[in-house]
Amino acid sequence: MANGRPLEGKIVLITGAAGEIGTASAALMARRGARIVAVDRPGADFSGLKAAVGEDLVSVEADVTHEASVRAYVGRALAVAGRIDVFFNNAGVAGPVAPVADYPLEAFRAVMAVNVEGVFLGLKHVLPVMQSQGFGSIVNSSSASGLTGWPGMWGYNASKHAVVGLTRVAASEAAPHGVRVNCINPGPIRSRMMGGLDASIGSEEARRARGIPARRYGLVEEVAGVVAFLASDDSGYVNGAVHPIDGGLTAV
Ligand SMILES: NC(=O)c1ccc[n+]([C@@H]2O[C@H](COP(=O)([O-])OP(=O)(O)OC[C@H]3O[C@@H](n4cnc5c(N)ncnc54)[C@H](O)[C@@H]3O)[C@@H](O)[C@H]2O)c1
Repeated sequence: MANGRPLEGKIVLITGAAGEIGTASAALMARRGARIVAVDRPGADFSGLKAAVGEDLVSVEADVTHEASVRAYVGRALAVAGRIDVFFNNAGVAGPVAPVADYPLEAFRAVMAVNVEGVFLGLKHVLPVMQSQGFGSIVNSSSASGLTGWPGMWGYNASKHAVVGLTRVAASEAAPHGVRVNCINPGPIRSRMMGGLDASIGSEEARRARGIPARRYGLVEEVAGVVAFLASDDSGYVNGAVHPIDGGLTAV
């Protein structure tokens, strides 16, 4: 590690990079020496990310649910840098919150498309690159919703459980090739996504009802710190693991 910059020279590819967790993680990893290739959906606003990361940022518009777009963003990262050291497979959507009888099938499919198929396609196209390199670290964005169930979050809970499964199969396949695949499982984080969910569940009451032992929501910076650790060689023997970042929520 050079001067406390454990990611010096690493090429980090991030999906959902223009979002809040993506931006905080990109900013932290850039400060620790990484070069960031940022993917977000067509029309996304990359200006906050650019301000946080700096002019060195490479941004790519791509829909993670389309295989041709996934192939293209992986190709772009390779064209820029010739390798991918770290892949933060992070794009996700929350979908509606509703009792099962009122939860539309189209909404369920839309959540699964981004949160499961998007993550699967990222793995499908990045893992072979890393396996042929003989190194690489992948961090998938699951959720505390991937470890437990909450009423009404049909698509989201199912999709984030699936991300745990994808992480485990990917790790078991990739580990012999020197590649690590882990997932993060944030609980409620102070963010737009959580604000939207709170509004549909019932705001302050929902926060108290969740009974977070830490008695507060997490911060995007607290998620970014775990992502940066899993990206770094400091976590070299951590593989196929889930990482709650939830103030103790799933421990009780
Ligand atoms: N915010 C939370 O409380 C929380 C908690 C647990 C897990 N997570 C997970 O962390 C990840 C990031 O969440 P966030 O809070 O930063 O949300 P966010 O909405 O700020 O960011 C998500 C990003 O994903 C992008 N995206 C969505 N669909 C896409 C597609 N089809 N193609 C490309 N990009 C697409 C969005 O444009 C957005 O920039 C998500 O997977 C989310 O489920 C968030």
